[in-house]
Amino acid sequence: MRVAVIHGPNLRLLGKREPEVYGSDTLADIDAALRVVAAELGAEIETFQSNHEGELLDFIEVAASRVDGFLINPGALTHTSIALRDALTGVDRPFVECHLSNTSGRERFRRHSYLAPVAAGVVYGFGVQSYLLGLRGLLTRLGS
Ligand code: DQA
Repeated sequence: MRVAVIHGPNLRLLGKREPEVYGSDTLADIDAALRVVAAELGAEIETFQSNHEGELLDFIEVAASRVDGFLINPGALTHTSIALRDALTGVDRPFVECHLSNTSGRERFRRHSYLAPVAAGVVYGFGVQSYLLGLRGLLTRLGS
């Protein structure tokens, strides 16, 4: 199985961005931890980060032909982007949405996700573990 991991806007700031909310791990730390879990489960991952909505849409369109599913932390686009939702539903690959923070317990505008209703599952509030649990869940869903 091959999975594309997508990190949305501002996630390359992890490590120095609001560590009291998002923890001290960097994006490189998260990607390294994901590679360990992927290897343990016999899967391959590729990772992608962009601050630009259109680049994320283009990546999803192109990557869909070589991956079985997506793990995505859409960042703030979670709460705003119908285009991102349409891109993910348009490629007919299961995806799992994950968030480091507990978005339900924060500002009201973070409580709504455009993606969650069409995701295979959502994991939030567990820091880096949200990604790792999300990858495990996605691979289970994919039957590996
Ligand atoms: C986030 C939560 C979003 O509300 C926020 O805009 C982010 C990070 C998280 O991982 O907790 O950028 O997706």
